[in-house]
Formats: sequence, C-alpha cells, structure tokens
Amino acid sequence: MAVCDELERRARARLDPRVFDYYAGGAGDERTLADNRRAWARLELRPVLGGGADRSPDTSLTLLGRRLELPVLLAPVAAQRLLDPGGEPASARAAARAGTVFCLSTRATADVAEVAEAAPDGARWFQLYVERERVRSRRALERLAELGYGAVVLTADLPVAGRRERELRGGPLPLPRGVEIVTHGEPPPRRPAGAPGRAAGGAPAASPAHKPVVGGWDPALTWRDVEWVAERSRLPVLVKGLLTGEDAALAVEHGAAGVVVSNHGGRQLDGALPTAVALPEVLAAVGGRVPVLVDGGLRTGADVARALALGAAATMIGRPYAWALASGGEDEVAALLRQLRSELSEAMSVSGAAAVTDLTPEVLAADR
Ligand SMILES: Cc1cc2nc3c(=O)[nH]c(=O)nc-3n(C[C@H](O)[C@H](O)[C@H](O)COP(=O)(O)O)c2cc1C
Repeated sequence: MAVCDELERRARARLDPRVFDYYAGGAGDERTLADNRRAWARLELRPVLGGGADRSPDTSLTLLGRRLELPVLLAPVAAQRLLDPGGEPASARAAARAGTVFCLSTRATADVAEVAEAAPDGARWFQLYVERERVRSRRALERLAELGYGAVVLTADLPVAGRRERELRGGPLPLPRGVEIVTHGEPPPRRPAGAPGRAAGGAPAASPAHKPVVGGWDPALTWRDVEWVAERSRLPVLVKGLLTGEDAALAVEHGAAGVVVSNHGGRQLDGALPTAVALPEVLAAVGGRVPVLVDGGLRTGADVARALALGAAATMIGRPYAWALASGGEDEVAALLRQLRSELSEAMSVSGAAAVTDLTPEVLAADR
C-alpha cells in the first residue's frame, strides 16, 4: 500500500467523518478526482540499465531564485486546524525541515504572521483568493513581503465553489473551540461572548469553517488582477488552476511569474482534464518563459519523476500531507516528505538521472 493510502486510512480513523469528507471529497461523481491519480500511473517509466546508475541523485532545484531540496511543495489547503491542533504552523515547519515550500491558504486557521514566526527561515508562499471587497485582499498582500513570504499564488479556478456532494450531505463542519478562519489582513473580528467560534461551553461551534467552502472571493476575477496582486504584494505571482494552453499564455502575458496546472484536486469541475493530460499543452504554450508547476493526484516519488519528465519545474501535493498532519502532526508531514524524496531519488537512479534536470521525456514510454 502506498504510504499516502496508509496515511489516509489513519486520518480517516481519527477525524470526524464530516471533516474527513471535506478533505477527501471531490466534485460531482469524483471522476476527475480519480482520473488525476490514474493519469500519472498511465505514464510508464523506462528504466535505463547498465548506465552506471547514480546511487544518490540530487533532488534539489532552484525555483523563483530560491534553492529547494525537493521538487514537492505543500499546496494551499484550507483550515488545517481541523486536521490537527498544530495546523498550518506545523505544516510550515515540516516543509522548512524538508527544504521545500509551504503555501499558506487564504482560508487558513493561522494568520500569515503566525506561520512566518513558526518557520522564519522556511520558504513560504501565500495563496490568494481575491476578495470581492478588494480592501481585505489588499491588507493581506501588504503584509507579505515584510513577513518574508516569497511569492503569491493566485487561485483562479474558483469563480464559484464546486458541487461537492459529500460536503453537501455532511452539512456544516465542526470547528473546534477557539479555531477560526483568519483574514490575514487584520485581527479577527470581535464577537459577543458565546457566539460561534468563541463558545464558552464544550460543544464545537458550527460553521464559520463553512467559509472556505462557500467563498467570499470575487467571481469576476480578470487577468488584470494578476498585475494588481503583483503591484500590491511586491512579490512574484503564480496563477494556479489552469488547464489550457490559452489560459497559460494569457497568464504569462499579464505578468505571471509562474503557473500551476491544477484542477483543484478534482474539487471544482467534475469531468475536467486530469492534470497529467493538461500539462503538455500548458508547457507548450508557456514555452519555457516561466516555471510550470503541477498538482493533483501525485502520490509517490515516481509520480513526481513523471511530472518532471514531462517538463514540470516542480509539483505540489494537497491531500497526502493533510492526511499526514491528521495522522501525526508536524513529524508525520516531515516523514512523508522524506519518503517522497527517497522514492524520487530511487526513480531517478533507475531512470539514469543524476539531477532533476536529467528527467526528460525520454524516461517515459511513448504514448501507445
Ligand atoms: C480540503 C482541501 C482544501 C483546499 N483548499 C484550497 C485553498 O484554500 N486554496 C487553493 O488554492 N487550493 C486549495 N485546495 C487545492 C489544493 O491546493 C491542490 O490543488 C489539490 O489538493 C491537489 O490535489 P491532491 O489533493 O490530489 O494532491 C484544497 C484542496 C483540498 C483537498
């Protein structure tokens, strides 16, 4: 059983079923959710034998001017204190230990400053949903550079929330007492005593955690917003959630410093392209002008090797580290990253790759 599946099993045993379903679920019939994984598995690796395999290949890379030890970044995942009391700061520390990026979600349960304090030297990015009330996004963006964040990830694939049947069936998520969805821009609003999220009694407060599910962001996002975010944050902006060459080319023309091929882990449009299938078209349209990252269904180091062989600069994972966090907090997330690194290293050795840049389309079998 892949490590990620074992972690999922353990997380399921620990979590409230509604919370488990919120993290596990996808849109509609969950076809895209399943296809993401299958599409990576379909890309077969061609072992190169007798070429003097490198026993300790170098998994490091430079991304947006920063050296990382591993081309596996932690994708923005909402409300991590529903998984473990350590929440986002624990994930950020685990990423820093592994020498990779932690990308904090807009819909987090820890503020940008708390995460910066938890991993001051770690590579940290911030994911933004542009809010309808721009002033709220602006305040958040203005804090990032001074707190040492390295990039903003503008998520573009949520004009409306996907229809996630499991969430609709499960109803409001139970938010533990004292846990809130933060705004990143200002201190949390004061609520009267006894109001949800600050309840004095033992019962879990219902529903501010529903915020990340139903939105508050602007469905009328335009390419012009890429420029707006870059100006406000003074940081490179990556556009996340693209699946087509046309959109990727437009993102680059409007100043994106990178793009993330993503279908939101199958949580948005069911029936949308799996990311392994969308990636070559996006790479062709971008033509090497900016790094192209990919996420969705990557579960093993061999999957990461496949994505890099197609031409991705790096990958992101979502659910696997959510399950690790729920199973054993920071240490389990760090252990998952170590595992993925050693699996990638093995796949590189067998493919005759000494460095991540040696992973080229030749290590993949041709389409049949
Ligand atoms: C429970 C959950 C919450 C997520 N929250 C966000 C979010 O707040 N912002 C965002 O850009 N993407 C969010 N994503 C999408 C992830 O960043 C990522 O694209 C996806 O999880 C990758 O697929 P994987 O889970 O198969 O690795 C979320 C995904 C999950 C599963």
